[in-house]
Amino acid sequence: MLKSSMALGYIILVCLFNGSLAQLNQRLFPDDFMFGAATAAYQVEGGWDEDGKGVSIWDDFFHSQGANETGDVACDSYHKWREDVENAKNLGLQFYRLSIAWTRILPDGTLGNINQKGIDYYLNVLKALKENNIEPVVTIYHWDAPLHISKLGGFLSSAIVDYFGDYARLLFQTFGEYVKYWITVNEPTIVCELGYGMDVFPPALALIGDGIYQCGYNLLKAHAHAYHIYEDEFKATQKGKITIVTECAWYEPNDPTSTQDLETRERAIQFRLGWFANAVYLGNWPQVMIDRIGNRSQAEGLSKSRLPQFTQEEIDYINGTHDYFALNTYGTVNVTYTPEAPPGEASYWTDLEVTNSDTYDDPQGIRKLLNWINNRYNPGEIIISENGKVNDGGLDDDDRIEYISGYLSSILDAIYEDNLNVIGYGVWSIMDNFEWGSYDKRFGLIEVDFDSPNKTRTWKKSAYWYQDVINRRCLATTCQENIL
Ligand code: NOJ
Repeated sequence: MLKSSMALGYIILVCLFNGSLAQLNQRLFPDDFMFGAATAAYQVEGGWDEDGKGVSIWDDFFHSQGANETGDVACDSYHKWREDVENAKNLGLQFYRLSIAWTRILPDGTLGNINQKGIDYYLNVLKALKENNIEPVVTIYHWDAPLHISKLGGFLSSAIVDYFGDYARLLFQTFGEYVKYWITVNEPTIVCELGYGMDVFPPALALIGDGIYQCGYNLLKAHAHAYHIYEDEFKATQKGKITIVTECAWYEPNDPTSTQDLETRERAIQFRLGWFANAVYLGNWPQVMIDRIGNRSQAEGLSKSRLPQFTQEEIDYINGTHDYFALNTYGTVNVTYTPEAPPGEASYWTDLEVTNSDTYDDPQGIRKLLNWINNRYNPGEIIISENGKVNDGGLDDDDRIEYISGYLSSILDAIYEDNLNVIGYGVWSIMDNFEWGSYDKRFGLIEVDFDSPNKTRTWKKSAYWYQDVINRRCLATTCQENIL
């Protein structure tokens, strides 16, 4: 009797231990999961007019305002790239996301003038990353269009499709040997909303009722053109993958029991993520955008929808132009149903019609968003191309550690419990940089002293923490001992 109850106790103990071991195992990242960090040319490079670089819309935007803070020098990565690669290596990064400044390669955006010094800069960076076993993830367009291309109409003109294609082809020819992950465009929503719909970003056109949608239309065609060039001319030999980066918060209905709030949440995601992802992953704009903008345009007395209509040929050309899903996501927003306003001034905001809360941190949001994406688009591999925490600076950035560990933990749940194929995670950003108008908003794992002539880099607490997570491939501090 005593013996058998001891045996039973032993069995229970083993089960308990195995259970917790299994749980700990679930805090271990899969062997092929890639940890990374992200940057963008205008935000880190500086050297805005060096070695033949042309003028971008961002150079012009800040210079014409006489702004005190510009990206002219930024982190000075144009000169300090060796130190940046060294930091990436010491962090243990498996990938490093960077963007190419279009004007460093093609000063006026066209093939009429190819700048070899610009090409050499990126060749040096890419080779150094490869030598250190860090996979470059390269964004072709992270918002810094050549001023010349913008003057030709930018994303309001279909001419950009061929200019972008020429530029992308040159990048594939020149850098393709070193790049396995390409991104055509970063966050098209932001390009079109803030630059064409509003005047927050260049070209600051403030065309919120129609230019914003025209931008999306030409941008998707430019993306698809670059995708097809890669697919038809380079993929077989270079064996890389290419996609577009979409951004979206997770939206929660303010009242989870309200059907109207739930419908509003769905519409908010469709107007944000779906605006670009729908055409790429399913074909055409989301139906709710076609319907709402079409109806409102008609009520405004227009003969055509403000949302440009794709031809069937265009739909087919854009549909399927992805080899993986790349997602930028930072937080959660609560949405409340708002009755549709009567037709008046045409605007993306009234087309969408939703009341938003401020964005807040909620690690569960990323898991829900990933599931939403997987259910709608079935995209296969997903990379979190950006996620990160902003603060006012300082080396003791416990808030950033808490944020990243929460989001990573939620991603592990998505991998193990929801069976989602999330293959990588990129922190925005490896270092503090120029947040599109401000040096005060700090996102870096590594501090940059922008007042020092040397732009001194200093590791924050989060950098050491991330290094340790990458090293142990685990979030729980007890992982290693228990696994061994
Ligand atoms: C989105 C953008 O891709 C990046 O340029 C920006 O700095 C971060 N998110 C943070 O706002």
